[in-house]
Amino acid sequence: MLYEVRAEAVKFFNDIMKDKYMKRMFITRMEAPHDREDEKFTWHKSARRYWDRFMKEHGVFATCGASKAVFVFEDMDYVIKVPFANDSFDYCYKEVWVYKEAVEAGYDEVFAPCYILGHYRFYDGDQPFMFPFYAMLKLDCSGKSIARWAGDSNAHLYNSKESYDADSDDVVEMMDDYYGGDGWNIYDVVDWLYDHCDASDLHGGNFGLNKDGRPMFVDYSGYGCSSFDPCMR
Ligand SMILES: Nc1ncnc2c1ncn2[C@@H]1O[C@H](COP(=O)(O)OP(=O)(O)OP(=O)(O)O)[C@@H](O)[C@H]1O
Ligand SMILES: [Mg+2]
Repeated sequence: MLYEVRAEAVKFFNDIMKDKYMKRMFITRMEAPHDREDEKFTWHKSARRYWDRFMKEHGVFATCGASKAVFVFEDMDYVIKVPFANDSFDYCYKEVWVYKEAVEAGYDEVFAPCYILGHYRFYDGDQPFMFPFYAMLKLDCSGKSIARWAGDSNAHLYNSKESYDADSDDVVEMMDDYYGGDGWNIYDVVDWLYDHCDASDLHGGNFGLNKDGRPMFVDYSGYGCSSFDPCMR
């Protein structure tokens, strides 16, 4: 299964590398959006239009937060995540590590499973480049669906653009409404995430619903935690 996801991702990256402008964006690893005014990438408008057209032609929905680009393929059960290169810290690898720890702690039901797929290698002339890429179970993260699920008319709170307004407390409270009845204590999970994994930042854009309508975190790497390096544990 993951082998097929990996093959699809590699095919997609191969197409990207055939296009010299898209390739350039991956060489600079899709500069991160420092400016939250713009949900996607802080590029010049024409570069952004080029990117959007490319993604549309390839039937891929591309989105991002502050630290990762996320590619959503319509006919795949997993999204592909690529960490931005603006920070030497790999926030996707952190998610893989947290997920592994969550499995061991018995908390994995609350986290969308995440796996490393390997490194994609490419050349620009003689110059070699590579970047890591990851698969995460695809959830429904649309503001509309989540607002409907939460019985909240403020869908914009759950769109990644404005999701910082639905802060961790709101999100955890909503998850507690769901898991509380199930014998779960979501507050224990959140404390564990904070203490053991040095991760917080559970705002409204960082969770989604699986096929059964179960809420799960999709972004559990935290942010600004470059002092934490899972490789050193
Ligand atoms: N597993 C998933 N399934 C569907 N959509 C996803 C998934 N993971 C992430 N997304 C979408 O991509 C967006 C960005 O992903 P993510 O939150 O992991 O990146 P980030 O850069 O760490 O974000 P932040 O700005 O919160 O630090 C999410 O807000 C969500 O809309
Ligand atoms: Mg996020």
